[in-house]
Amino acid sequence: MLGKILSFSSLLTLLLSAITLFLLLSGCGQSFSSNGQKIYFTAESTSGQPITYSGGPRTMMQNRLACVNCHGSQGKGGTVNMMMQSFDVPNITWPELTSDDPPFTEQTLKLAITQGIDPAGGTLKYPMPHWQMSESDLNDLVDFIKTLK
Ligand code: HEC
Repeated sequence: MLGKILSFSSLLTLLLSAITLFLLLSGCGQSFSSNGQKIYFTAESTSGQPITYSGGPRTMMQNRLACVNCHGSQGKGGTVNMMMQSFDVPNITWPELTSDDPPFTEQTLKLAITQGIDPAGGTLKYPMPHWQMSESDLNDLVDFIKTLK
C-alpha cells in the first residue's frame, strides 16, 4: 500500500518535472524585442489582447498557430508539413513582398493578413488563415514584417 503511494508520488514528481522542462523548452519566458515580433512568433500580443484566426489548419494547440509555424523565423517560407498535410508557403520578407506584381503596400499587407486578399484583389488560398487582432497589434506586426529581409 505504502509502496503504491510512494511510486504514485514519484510518478507525479516525474510528470511535473517533464511539464516544467517542456514549458522551458517550448519558449515560455522567451523575450522578444518588439510586440510585432512576439505576435509573429507566438500569436500573442504584449497587451494580452486575443489574436485568433479562422480558415487555417486547426492544430492540436488550437489557436496557438503563429506566422512562424508556416512562414519560418526569417519569413522565407518553404514546404511545410503540418497535421498530415504538406503545402508550399511563400516568402514574406519585405523585399519579396514589395517586388511582387502588383507590389504589397502596408495597407494591402493588412488586407492579406486579416481577410486573405492579395494586392491584385485575388483570394489567398487555404491554409493561409484570416487573422483577427487589434489595429495597433496589426500595425506592430506589419512593422516587424518590414524588418524581414
Ligand atoms: C498554416 C500556415 C500559415 C500560417 C500560420 C500563416 N500563413 Fe501566411 N500564407 C500561408 C500560405 C500557404 C500562403 C499562400 C496562399 C496562396 O498561395 O494563396 C500564405 C500567404 C501569405 C501572404 C501573401 C504572400 C504573397 O506573396 O502573396 C502574407 C502576406 C502572409 N501569408 C502573411 C502571414 C502572416 C503575417 C501570418 C501570421 C499572422 C501568416 N501569414 C500565417 C500559410 C500560412
